[in-house]
Amino acid sequence: MQNNKYVETPGTQIFQILMQLSDYLELYRQWGFDGISCKKEFQTLQDLPALEKLRAELAGCQRCKLSHGRTHIVFGEGNPQATLMLIGEGPGADEDRLGRPFIGKSGELLTRMIQAINLRREDVYITSIVKCRPPQNRDPEPDEIATCTPFLRRQIECIQPRIICALGRVAAQTLLETTTPISQLRGRFHDYHGIKLMPTFHPAYLLRNPQDKRLAWEDLQCVQQEYEKVNKSLTAEENT
Ligand code: URA
Repeated sequence: MQNNKYVETPGTQIFQILMQLSDYLELYRQWGFDGISCKKEFQTLQDLPALEKLRAELAGCQRCKLSHGRTHIVFGEGNPQATLMLIGEGPGADEDRLGRPFIGKSGELLTRMIQAINLRREDVYITSIVKCRPPQNRDPEPDEIATCTPFLRRQIECIQPRIICALGRVAAQTLLETTTPISQLRGRFHDYHGIKLMPTFHPAYLLRNPQDKRLAWEDLQCVQQEYEKVNKSLTAEENT
């Protein structure tokens, strides 16, 4: 029988250190640095927005066993002040390879879903319940979800979206703290700490079950209506 238990040896410890280093270098690259000069960057790091400080806190994360198999932490991307936040389940192989959320096949569909409600990926913020790829794309396990969700909660607090779209069962059930099936949760807004939350099907599910795209489209139209309502009231507030 295959033994999948992770064993820590000097070799794996060195590997983990190199992975952490690579996370930090990737973080610096995303912040636009093309070299390292500690003094200057220390001043800059203190001025980082809360969302970037949170990203930095996660760099090199080894808080759960998903860290053992990942290539990149997939923190999230998009407008840090987005009205709409889309939350998936966890990175897949493509996302793990490049460190960006929803860039594989299901990401292509998600991009089209966003465009279908007259928005661009840059307008919204996209992330997932867990930030590291579960092996063989299995569902994230309860201990992994429990370890990662405090960071998601803080991410939501930084972005302060007015609407959240939970993509799929794991995202919807985790955020709403329920075991109700996604088919019963979708189709109406729920309350997530004062934020309107619309559960809908995960794009990967929709690729396998295209007959349910019609239902997802209904959910997205509710999101679009709410988005337009929020935008109108924000514009009215700005003009008073
Ligand atoms: N599925 C998710 O839930 N998140 C990703 O980033 C990619 C696929």
